[in-house]
Formats: sequence, C-alpha cells, structure tokens
Amino acid sequence: MIQEKKIAIGSDHAGFELKENLKEFLKELGYDITDLGTNSLDSVDYPLIAKALATLVTNKNPDKGILICGTGIGMSIAANKIKGIIAAHCYDTETAKLARQHNNSNILALGGRITSPEIAKHIVQTWLETKFEGGRHLRRVQEIRDLER
Ligand code: RB5
Repeated sequence: MIQEKKIAIGSDHAGFELKENLKEFLKELGYDITDLGTNSLDSVDYPLIAKALATLVTNKNPDKGILICGTGIGMSIAANKIKGIIAAHCYDTETAKLARQHNNSNILALGGRITSPEIAKHIVQTWLETKFEGGRHLRRVQEIRDLER
C-alpha cells in the first residue's frame, strides 16, 4: 500500500525564509504540504500560527507538522498547549531522532535564526523517517497525556 505523505508547515516572520526553503525540500521528498503561513517577512505573532497548525495536527489532518520561529522555542511552547500535541524543539539530527523514538513528537519546532537550511533539511528528514520505539516510551508518553486531563 502506498502511504500518502502529508505534512503541515507554519512559521512567523523570523522563520519565513527557512519555511520556504524547507517547502522545496519537502516537495522533493514527495510530501503534500499544507502551508499555514506566514507569507512574508512582516511581523506576525507566532502563537497564532502555532495554534492553527497544532489544531490541524491534533485532528490528524495531517498528523505531523513543522513550526518555525526565530529560536523554535516560542513555537514549541505554544503548540504544546494544544491537547494531543507533543512539539519538540530540535537543533540537530540526534535530538530529531530521539524526539521521534522516545517522545513520539507530532510537531517539529525549528529556529530560523539558529539553524541553517542545510542542517534543518537533515533534521527534518531524520524526524520524518524515524519511528516511535514504543515499549517503555509508550508508558511515558501516556503519562504526558495524563497531564492534559
Ligand atoms: C520574533 O522576534 C521571535 O521572538 C520569535 O520568532 C521566536 O523566536 C519566539 O520564541
């Protein structure tokens, strides 16, 4: 069975250029992309973009997303307020791998002012291709879910 590859992406002004860069890369990887903006370098508030994207992802439509702000920190803080979201701020391929294997993250947060496009592409590909390990990590992720109640 061919699985459809779908991903949502969003940024504020500080992540806009990296978002545009990553969209090209994701297209090359065969992803169908839902772009939640922003669409220029004009200043916008990252929590609003995080909310829009995280709402789609928690409804599994699609089930994964990428958020980019200046540091990746604000986007991850905001997205993690939405029930069902595990947003991980990653800055290298090791954190990207573990954010999937151990945390089953469904949103990847990146820093457009911190991470170069080349490194960001490696991070994105690693995060997309790494599976959740389950086992003891499933229990721990469930314990995170319990915090939402
Ligand atoms: C915008 O200047 C900046 O604060 C934002 O992109 C982000 O880095 C916040 O965490």
